[in-house]
Amino acid sequence: MTTQLSGIRLAKRLDEVGFSDIVLVRNKVMGMRAEGLQVHPMHGGEPFFETPELIKYAAIKAIVENQTHYAPSSGMLPLRKALVEKLATKNNIHVTTDQVIATMGGTHGLYAAFQTVLDPGDEALIFSPYWTPIGDLVAGAQARRVLVDTLGARQNGVRKTLKQCLTPRTRAIYFNTPQNPSGLVFTKAEAEEVAAFAIEHDLIVIADEAYEDLIYDGSPFSIASLPGMAERTITSYTFSKTYAMTGWRAGYTVAPEPFMTGMRKIILYSTNGVTTPVQYAMLEALRTPAAEIAAHREQYRARRDLLVSALNEVGLTCEPPAGAFYAFPNVEKIDKNSRVAAQILLEKAHIATIPGSVFGIHGEGHLRFGYAVTLKEIENCIGALRTFFA
Ligand SMILES: Cc1ncc(COP(=O)(O)O)c(C=O)c1O
Repeated sequence: MTTQLSGIRLAKRLDEVGFSDIVLVRNKVMGMRAEGLQVHPMHGGEPFFETPELIKYAAIKAIVENQTHYAPSSGMLPLRKALVEKLATKNNIHVTTDQVIATMGGTHGLYAAFQTVLDPGDEALIFSPYWTPIGDLVAGAQARRVLVDTLGARQNGVRKTLKQCLTPRTRAIYFNTPQNPSGLVFTKAEAEEVAAFAIEHDLIVIADEAYEDLIYDGSPFSIASLPGMAERTITSYTFSKTYAMTGWRAGYTVAPEPFMTGMRKIILYSTNGVTTPVQYAMLEALRTPAAEIAAHREQYRARRDLLVSALNEVGLTCEPPAGAFYAFPNVEKIDKNSRVAAQILLEKAHIATIPGSVFGIHGEGHLRFGYAVTLKEIENCIGALRTFFA
């Protein structure tokens, strides 16, 4: 895109920043629904349940009790204390309260992280297929995304594959596990390879653990907990998925110095911190019993198993995802071009999905089906799939 010569123009650094294709699908679905059509909503990534009552009431109580003033822009101390405890017990990341910062959701934490570490012209290695906004966050820092084929890395060796993408400009690795859109969960051995590579080449790791509570077998594992990694890792978390708090815009990031100073500056001058009543809701969310989180995971597992077996049954080959709430079947049987496949499925079967190519070239030939919907919605989608392939 060329920039106009006139003074009335956007800053050039926004030239390479796109709008999410996912939003385009969402708009199309809304248009179809407005026409009275029933659409099977497999395009989204929002939990199927509502924000738990106790969390909602914590925010309401905070408002009623006039907790409506400025809070520290990094987050109030009781919240940061609770986060420090959570990080130690659940993630084996041991930090102090000034190494954790509240953010307006995971996206904001990731935005701040990329702004903190990338200079114009730097390169960031991104395992692909990848969550699309990451490419835009990197572009917004005037840096370059370099895609690393995740499955290729799995087959040929993580370190070897990363090495093929390394240049003197490489500065950071984006490490998302469980992954959106594939549901892939990196093994501890793979994380160790990424860590060894980062240490060998003096790179920063930006870890994204948005789906840490959605690992179907085994426990979450944080790359920052590996020896030598805490000092070079910025890890982003969100309340969106675990606690069904997508609309609250609540998250946090953990990082040592010098990164935390950068994070504080970016957060101070972008949002000046998370809304005070939301911080009370975050504090309450952290008190959620582990059994409640596990029960939700089992509900997601049931959805996954139902959908994945139906996808395979109609010939859309799909490995059961090890984490998150997305299935990523091969859909070349419908069309080799995933945008065309998504369009066919939407128009002929009224099933809304996201084309795999939106998530980078390595996603081509696939569609993302989000299964964080109700069981009834999954059953209806399966019915439509069977009719379409009949
Ligand atoms: C991989 C990944 N990271 C981060 C996020 C950020 O979510 P939020 O900004 O709602 O916290 C998402 C949301 O879909 C995601 O899929």
